[in-house]
Amino acid sequence: MTIWGNHRRGPLNLVNLGEQLIERPHIEWGNNRPFAFSRLSDDYARALEQLALAKEPFVQTLPVTKGWERGVEESPTTARFASFSVFHLSPITLPLYFAIRETYRHLLGALEQEPTARFIQCWYNIHRSGASLVRHCHVYPFIGTFSAYADGSLTQYGNAKELSDGDVVIEHVPGQLVITTGPGHYHHTSTWKNPDRARVTYAFDILGANHWNPNQIFLPFDF
Ligand SMILES: [Fe+2]
Repeated sequence: MTIWGNHRRGPLNLVNLGEQLIERPHIEWGNNRPFAFSRLSDDYARALEQLALAKEPFVQTLPVTKGWERGVEESPTTARFASFSVFHLSPITLPLYFAIRETYRHLLGALEQEPTARFIQCWYNIHRSGASLVRHCHVYPFIGTFSAYADGSLTQYGNAKELSDGDVVIEHVPGQLVITTGPGHYHHTSTWKNPDRARVTYAFDILGANHWNPNQIFLPFDF
């Protein structure tokens, strides 16, 4: 099969979570919030960076998500987050799906919560030189991000719209997966400054049926 392109370690390895998940999940607490970290391989991160860029022209044909009309230029794929799921773009996204689930379940364990029925929506962000995501928060119980290529980029998390000295600043490294709690958990990114290579991250929300919305693409995720 050649549908996922020509990668250095061979395409079949890319769908093997055991080979791609190079750092098992662990928890760090900051600002009274748990952050679950794990890491996928550099090769896998590179493959998802290439996938995101290859699919960008397609994603740009999709409807802009309501409320994102003014963000289309700076955040062309983010602005269409409700119109697609990354898990429908290529089979190589499956290790990401299962890595998110393992990391999420590890986070649940740290919170002494039992697994329950959950959905996931997952999109990707492409930011070019001068672009960033302004401070915002999501309503969903859990939020997360995967760094395909965001070297030198920072995401700052805090418990208020305003910046605080207590904010948690997380540096993006290739393959890093981060999941934390969502409600009231504000975050923003540093401005991307590399004119030669785009910043590519994947982002997701994990939610229960009470947040179901037929205008977004929520896939069954946990049970
Ligand atoms: Fe966000």
